[in-house]
Amino acid sequence: MTDQDELLFDVLVIGSGAAGLTLALEMPPQAKIAVLSKHELREGSTYYAQGGIAAVFSEEDSIDTHVKDTLLAGGGLCDEKAVRFVAGRARAAIEKLLDYGVSFTTETDAKGRKILHLTREGGHSKRRVVHAADATGMAVETALEDKARHAERVQLFENHVAIDLIREGKTGRCVGAYALDRAAGHVRLFRARKVVLATGGASKVYLYTSNPDSCTGDGIAMAWRAGARVANMEFCQFHPTCLYHPKAKGFLVTEAVRGEGGRLLLSPGGERFMPRFHPMAELAPRDVVARAIDHEMKRLGLDHVWLDISHQPPDFIKEHFPTVYAKCLEFGFDMTVEPIPVVPAAHYTCGGVITDLSGRTDIPGLYAIGEVAYTGLHGANRMASNSLLECFVFGSAAAADIRSKLPNTPTPPFLPPWDESWVTDSDEEVVVSHNWDELRLFMWDYVGIVRTTKRLERAKRRVDLLLGEIAEYYGSFKVRNDLLEMRNLAVVADLIIRSAMERKESRGLHYTLDYPVPDSSKLAHPTILTPPNFRPE
Ligand code: FAD
Ligand code: SIN
Repeated sequence: MTDQDELLFDVLVIGSGAAGLTLALEMPPQAKIAVLSKHELREGSTYYAQGGIAAVFSEEDSIDTHVKDTLLAGGGLCDEKAVRFVAGRARAAIEKLLDYGVSFTTETDAKGRKILHLTREGGHSKRRVVHAADATGMAVETALEDKARHAERVQLFENHVAIDLIREGKTGRCVGAYALDRAAGHVRLFRARKVVLATGGASKVYLYTSNPDSCTGDGIAMAWRAGARVANMEFCQFHPTCLYHPKAKGFLVTEAVRGEGGRLLLSPGGERFMPRFHPMAELAPRDVVARAIDHEMKRLGLDHVWLDISHQPPDFIKEHFPTVYAKCLEFGFDMTVEPIPVVPAAHYTCGGVITDLSGRTDIPGLYAIGEVAYTGLHGANRMASNSLLECFVFGSAAAADIRSKLPNTPTPPFLPPWDESWVTDSDEEVVVSHNWDELRLFMWDYVGIVRTTKRLERAKRRVDLLLGEIAEYYGSFKVRNDLLEMRNLAVVADLIIRSAMERKESRGLHYTLDYPVPDSSKLAHPTILTPPNFRPE
């Protein structure tokens, strides 16, 4: 058997977070599935998710209210069809996770029944967030991982980095991908009848981020290079509250802390400033809170602001926020008795590869699900706890579409193996590390929470230069993970800058001093970028 036969699958899933594993577990028993992950299986944003998953369970809530809150947070840019599609499937998604054995936090109601405890986060007008204390992602990812490791039809390829997608010349169908086996140090060719991108977001494009190292926008860059359109890349979400400490590495302090009464202060015991910015104060949508903090920090020359929940009983804090409490203590802050220092950091990529409600992209045979995708759900600003939900709903929807199409999808042809006969080992590794730091710094300084046309133009000149250098470097040296990530980050940065330059208004997460208000002269529309090799069907 040749390597090409051995690595022939019905479905190739690139990414093993909530989106990828949901889909893999819903494939038919007879299908042969490959799941690739860049690091260990669980390493991705999903594992670190804290607050929870939005779903209507309370009698005081309704799907219409969930839809309404999402549309409001999305700044007029959500696709209502996508919002209804997701909100309407949220309860079923949670029930499936319960079947998978996820233990969500519960409480006892007035009639003595055990019910799911619902917390609140920004933008939600009702208690709607199902959670496992403050480590919801860990609970979900471990359950999915456990199931995937026991599913015979699923072959797991950890430490495999997808490099590029492969399209069949005549039909344009996506039929596989090249991936670097990091342990073996060589590139392998995976062929598949259907390919799914579930690679997560791109917040590593910014210097300060809540995201783990895997979030380098690989899927967005691969899809773009392969000829798929992307949308709304300018809407980069900054989470308002990451722990401010040089060694905390963007550790997130969940919005549920504010949901349970946490207040933002300018100094310990000082002014609570959010009521000046929004009627919902600390529970305003995330773009508003992050911008208010940024504004106050700049106005007063502060390094951070303070988050205080010490008015709640210590046992309540320890029970609801055990992870955050322990991490803060590690850095010398006891949140049961004092406020903690917090700053905004890049958190979520609202834009991505354009898909329909079945996760299908522009490229036949290629799906995109989870944070890598643009489905229309989030608009100009994602509402908290809607993204894990999106992973489950679109993981299932894409699985259903693939199940129905597999019987009529031909086996891919033999494909050219990876050719590295003309490249050598790098002689100047500093080029990659330097470019990596430079890119993330100028994105933070020029394309961050508050933008201007001049700053965007500066960033564009720099990214153009980097794209040229990286292309030259990539063409000469053997691929390594950091080079692949750098190449993808530069593509994503370019897409973000170009999208931001196209939007001549402020809306949701895109705020520019040159156009400080939404453009009410025309209907709000998504920013769609089309690659030069796009082939309309
Ligand atoms: P991920 O979980 O990021 O998984 C991506 C996968 O793709 C990984 O397996 C990675 O290894 C793999 N991958 C990437 N590139 C490649 C490549 N080139 N080759 C092979 N594999 C690749 N959302 C909520 O709804 N509720 C929350 O409470 C919440 N809290 C959060 C807290 C934190 C700290 C963070 C960072 C995010 C949080 N979010 C939350 C957002 C949410 O966690 C993510 O949007 C969601 O988990 C994304 O899931 P995913 O499956 O799309 O990607
Ligand atoms: C958080 O817990 O604050 C993160 C929630 C989210 O990103 O949806």
